[in-house]
Amino acid sequence: MCGIFAYSGSRDVRESLIDGLKDLEYRGYDSAGVAFFKEDRIHRFRVCGGVNELEKKLTELPYKGFLGIGHTRWATHGVPSERNAHPHRSHSIYVVHNGVIENEEEIKKIIDPKDLLSDTDTEVIPHLIHYFYKKENLSFFQSVLRTINWMKGSYAVVALCEESPDEIIAFKSGPPLVFCKGDREFFISSDPYSAGKQASEMIFLEDGEILSLKKNQFQIFNFKGEKISPKFKKLSQERINVEKGSHPHFMLKEILEQPRTLTQLITNHISKDKQGFHLKLSNGDEKKFDKLLRTSSELLILACGSSYHAALFARYLLEDVGEIQVNVEIASEFIYRKAFVSKNTPVLFISQSGETADILTALKHIQSLNLSCISLCNVKNSSLERKSDFSFSLFAGPELAVASTKTFSASLVALSCLTFYIAKLKGHLALKTEQELIRHLLALPSFIEEVLHCDQFFLQIMESLKKFRAFFYLGRGLHYPMALEGALKLKEIAYLHAEAYPSGEMKHGPLAMIDKSTAVMALLPSSGILYKKSLINLKEAKSRGACIISIGGKEKDEDLKEISDYHLSLPESHELFQPLLSLIPLQMMAYYISRSYGYNADRPRNLAKSVTVE
Ligand code: G6P
Repeated sequence: MCGIFAYSGSRDVRESLIDGLKDLEYRGYDSAGVAFFKEDRIHRFRVCGGVNELEKKLTELPYKGFLGIGHTRWATHGVPSERNAHPHRSHSIYVVHNGVIENEEEIKKIIDPKDLLSDTDTEVIPHLIHYFYKKENLSFFQSVLRTINWMKGSYAVVALCEESPDEIIAFKSGPPLVFCKGDREFFISSDPYSAGKQASEMIFLEDGEILSLKKNQFQIFNFKGEKISPKFKKLSQERINVEKGSHPHFMLKEILEQPRTLTQLITNHISKDKQGFHLKLSNGDEKKFDKLLRTSSELLILACGSSYHAALFARYLLEDVGEIQVNVEIASEFIYRKAFVSKNTPVLFISQSGETADILTALKHIQSLNLSCISLCNVKNSSLERKSDFSFSLFAGPELAVASTKTFSASLVALSCLTFYIAKLKGHLALKTEQELIRHLLALPSFIEEVLHCDQFFLQIMESLKKFRAFFYLGRGLHYPMALEGALKLKEIAYLHAEAYPSGEMKHGPLAMIDKSTAVMALLPSSGILYKKSLINLKEAKSRGACIISIGGKEKDEDLKEISDYHLSLPESHELFQPLLSLIPLQMMAYYISRSYGYNADRPRNLAKSVTVE
């Protein structure tokens, strides 16, 4: 995890680093630090806390600088504290790092234990660089090259050396690093958004590359020290609005944005005349993509967290409508077992950030099997998007709250579009059905707009809800992944125990947990056999004393009224899109409970948005 930012130019380095680090806080926010040159000395400042704390410390300084490195941390090795915060130092060498050094114990053998001042794995990097720099009398650059030869693991590193003012060295193998050029100023960062704000061109460092930046001169090398010719990409000057506006949290803003983001997404994945599905690829050859989808009878989907829930939703849809066999796996589980994937099965990776380490490791594995890799990402130019054979986008804009909301609903809709597109390519989708689905999809954002008013419902029952310490989320079929997502939201931002089950599974064990202290969030389709079955399952919970909060279901059904302690009715959409309407109240409920406890929903404890360690 962690965010890295470095700057060299003519502006006050303190402002530039703080600005960049604030944009990177979604990667971690438990401690932060900077190191920068003032004349020929490096000054280091670290805090336990967020970038705002660091900013206070820096603005008090009577001096500024023009070249420096910064870091915002999400603790893996060592608790969040000032001494574990980056930059780490060994004599004249200062380093910020994102990733994990796997052979730290081996490296520590050459370091005097008295010199080890933190509990981090990172600290061995500056010590190793310094070892070569002093003991072997190598240049800063050569010392970095020797260090890289020793290091094992995944890393993105940016380093400074006090005896080499004006020089920044960056190198990576694993986590991303982007290098951006502006008007006689340079930025290095963990993501292109933060680095590209003042720049006109950018380049992603590839694994095995090292950048040396000295004033206005720079050069990229491979790990053997051979020069590489960089191919910069122009950066679009389009600025995206990432302000909170009048909303108290980004999470609420992002929940409310869903009608707009979904409209944007839908219009991007249908033809201009709005008559047919046409998946817009952000990467890859369309004809090859169509051929792959047309000829595949199986699909493997890999994802983590909320994206995994989206994958489960896609499985129901793809098997039902796309008539394609689908396997869904949690990426971190898939990598380390002997999984059987049949030849020619395309693999779909779902990842909002496109930087999740579990996903990128799985991608590497799948590529070694020579299988086609398709990705669904929100972040443009992410590692996953760049490395996949084919990618399509969520078009949801930056999501800053750690818990996914608008990108989760966008994943559901994008995967629906993929399903209908596959069905069409395989000849399973009649023109009339396709047009009807498009009509329903285009109407979906206005239904969501309507459901967003459910905040009033939750505010009214808030005090009753807060009495419960255990929440069961129940749903069947396409509603089950929504139940999983609802329970995850409550755990993530309100720190309450919540579990999701397919309603029919309760009687096989979890029912034993049900009593008066339990709330059951029941997600119901508006009709059909699953509606009837779900009601029976709810009666089982009700008769054991649970408080039933039902969402959706059949309007004016006496049975449903009788079972429910509280009921929220929903507008009726197409049955395939109805789960998206059930999702919105779950997001709202988690948000308002979290807020009522005074938590910061945007930054849940112990979590980060993009997890770049396995
Ligand atoms: C982290 C986030 C989750 C997210 C998961 C997968 O754990 O806290 O909200 O669902 O990563 O992220 P991805 O970017 O791969 O979808």
